Order: sequence, then structure tokens, then C-alpha cells
Amino acid sequence: MMTFDQVKDPFQLDRVACFGRTMNEYVEMFNLDLDELKGKTILDCASGPASFAAEAQKREIKVVACDPIYSKKIDDIMENAQRDIPAAIRETQRHRSLFMRQTNDEDIMFLNEKLRALTTFANDYKKIDACRRYVAASFPHLPFYDDSFDMVICGNLLFLYSDPETGGILENSNFDYLFHHRALHEMLRIARQEVRIYPVVGPNKKTHPFVNELLNDESFFPYDMQFESVMMKDIKGATQMLRIFKRGI
Ligand SMILES: C[S@@+](CC[C@H](N)C(=O)[O-])C[C@H]1O[C@@H](n2cnc3c(N)ncnc32)[C@H](O)[C@@H]1O
Repeated sequence: MMTFDQVKDPFQLDRVACFGRTMNEYVEMFNLDLDELKGKTILDCASGPASFAAEAQKREIKVVACDPIYSKKIDDIMENAQRDIPAAIRETQRHRSLFMRQTNDEDIMFLNEKLRALTTFANDYKKIDACRRYVAASFPHLPFYDDSFDMVICGNLLFLYSDPETGGILENSNFDYLFHHRALHEMLRIARQEVRIYPVVGPNKKTHPFVNELLNDESFFPYDMQFESVMMKDIKGATQMLRIFKRGI
């Protein structure tokens, strides 16, 4: 299952990176139509230090962000992100063939965008009402009622951070198939309409094997699962998201 690149030179990550993207990147990862989403509710798990919840609020989209790091104080989250963001970018530089970014200038632009997301996130996280919008929780059990959000999204956690033996990038990851199975059922329990997950490929640019297992798992047969092309261009081959619809909507 491992690619030649990974065998030669595995990703050196000691945990899931504390790394967050901007709203523009969320639009590109999940094909979000911001006008259509006005007044709608979205659960973003795992959101990390992303600025999606903060930026979406200004567009009248109600986003709740959910991540285990929200049990920490803002200074600790900032410290983790300021360590992990440059470290993650250094790893992408060591694996150039797997990414669209090819030059140091592009990396600097990418880094600055992540630092902008971090600052926007931090300013929002310090606000008085933030505890209602940033909820500390982890897959596979999330503290939300059934059907409580129009949409539930998950970016850059599932599939990607599984063990390299199973097609991901995190050595000794405990995100096995059962974890993914439970996480997807949890997202579907909470979503009123649909779930979107990005990316669905591992570093070998092929659909992650857990995605295929989920598609063939009869407990998901009641749902419509579809791949959809997205605009996001960062990981080579990560050109699609998985959309899972609850039927009858
Ligand atoms: C790489 S970040 C992705 C952030 C954001 N979705 C984005 O695309 O920019 C992954 C996040 O997953 C969180 N995480 C790790 N284990 C988790 C779990 N079991 N359940 C939910 N989130 C988890 C980490 O704390 C981290 O903030």
C-alpha cells in the first residue's frame, strides 16, 4: 500500500498537525456556495485553527467549529500552530512530487495564508460568545443532537491522517477503519441533509482504501454517496470530495 516516496522518506509528523485553512480554501475543498448557505448551519469537525467559522459568521452562515484542541487556552493553541504550520510545510517541501506547490515563493505565500487564518481564528476564539461556536470534542463521539446541522464537513483529517500502511501520512496512527466507520456514522447522525469530506486520496494519489470500504459497507447503503470534483489544488490527485446525502432530502 505504501508509495515509493513514502518508503524512502516517510512523512515526519508526531501528531495530527495543528494547521488551519482560510474560508477561500474551504470554499475550494467543499464546493461551498456562500450565498446559498446564508442562514444555514454547518458543523466543521475537525476545524483546528482554521478561520472558516470566523469568516463564515460575517457572511451570515452559522458555523460551529469542533476540535479537541479547543479544550486548550488560546496561547497554547497558538504555540502548537506556530510549531506545526511551518513543520508541516517543511514536510511538503521534502515531498515536492506529491504537492502542486513547487517553489519557495509559493510556500511563503501558502505559509502567510495559514498565519492569516490563525490570526483570524485567534481573534474570534477570544470573543465572549466563542464557547458556543468552538466546541472541544473528538471523533468518533461528538456532543450534538441528531439532525442538528444542515451540513457536517470534515477537511484534512479523515483518511489523510491514517497510518501509511493503510494509505495515510501519520506513522502509528490509531485512525483505523473502525474509527472512520464510526466517525462517518456520527457525522451522518448529526447532519440534517449531507456530509462532505475532503480529501479522499492518500499520498499515492489513489482513492484511500477506507473510502472504498465505506462505499461497500452495507450500514451506509441507506445513504447516497457521490464523488464530486473540487477546485482545491494542493495535494496532487486530491481533486474530489466525498458527498454523502441523507435520502429523501
Ligand atoms: C490538519 S487540521 C485540519 C483543520 C481544518 N479542517 C483544515 O482543513 O484546515 C486537523 C485537526 O484534526 C484535529 N483532530 C485530531 N484528532 C481528532 C479527532 N479524533 N477528532 C476530531 N478532530 C481531531 C486536530 O486537533 C487538528 O486541529
